[in-house]
Amino acid sequence: MNFDQQIKQKAAAIEAVLKKYIPQEEGYQRTIMAAMNYSLLAGGKRLRPMLMSETYELFGGREEGIIEPFMAAIEMIHTYSLVHDDLPAMDNDEYRRGRKTTHVVYGEAMGILAGDGLLNYAFETAFQAFDRITGLEAGEQSGLYQKAAKALQVLGKKAGIYGMIGGQVIDMEGCGKAVGRERLDHMYQLKTGGLIEASMMVGAILAGATEEEVLKIEQIAGDVGLAFQIKDDILDVTGTLKTLGKPVHSDEKNEKATYVTLLGLEAANNEVRGISERAITTFGSLGKRNDFLLDLIKMLVNREY
Ligand code: FPP
Ligand code: MG
Repeated sequence: MNFDQQIKQKAAAIEAVLKKYIPQEEGYQRTIMAAMNYSLLAGGKRLRPMLMSETYELFGGREEGIIEPFMAAIEMIHTYSLVHDDLPAMDNDEYRRGRKTTHVVYGEAMGILAGDGLLNYAFETAFQAFDRITGLEAGEQSGLYQKAAKALQVLGKKAGIYGMIGGQVIDMEGCGKAVGRERLDHMYQLKTGGLIEASMMVGAILAGATEEEVLKIEQIAGDVGLAFQIKDDILDVTGTLKTLGKPVHSDEKNEKATYVTLLGLEAANNEVRGISERAITTFGSLGKRNDFLLDLIKMLVNREY
């Protein structure tokens, strides 16, 4: 199987995992579940759960019932961040993943609540891993409670004010302002790097990687996140609504400083290449093999969508 076939197959498997964990649309509050599922099942690339499960495999993880709730959880957190990012008070965008944004379809109040619901439900879902551990034979439970607790700690921190939310704050405060390279790097490391770091670190932690290995994974994922976001800036200028499934020139509309406005297209492309090469070198120093994961990291920065 070539890489394209593999990635399609893996994305389809993740789709099936997500469907297992989405909330039922029921009760008087069913509108929020419908809005959550509308955004969750809009067909993103599913990169974060993919990075998580591939990193889990890299370190020899084999318990599907433990990694799967975390895979669903990271995609829920990512999806909530997109729903809120598209709100009128933030980037005010009407298309995402090739369809109308959640607030356009369900109204602004429900857009806010669906985002809140997804963030909370992400943790409700991740906590299901504990039920799974409890169901294992005593001999197989060894250390798993601690690993799952550590993974939750990382997930919470990297999604919060010291991670993604913190990065979004720096982003919002930068609109219409001249912003330097250092601030931009810091914002990207938190805003986009946060969840990519969480994805790979959670996979590594649950599979029993050592502290030193988890630290290396954090560095690799940080670089992947930074390169991924610079590529996102580039695609906002060079892509189309059709290929990206979201409006282009959104950064210009919001008067945002980006790597493209700061350095120009060519230099921004060179940065992406340099940073991803650094990630690949660090990956090599782990002394572990997962060829698909390596190709995935390369694809993320060469993508056109
Ligand atoms: C596209 O991911 C998303 C990014 C490059 C990250 C941008 C960061 C935010 C929107 C943070 C917002 C934070 C808050 C707190 C509102 P992707 O290309 O993987 O999208 P896909 O899942 O649709 O493929
Ligand atoms: Mg934004």
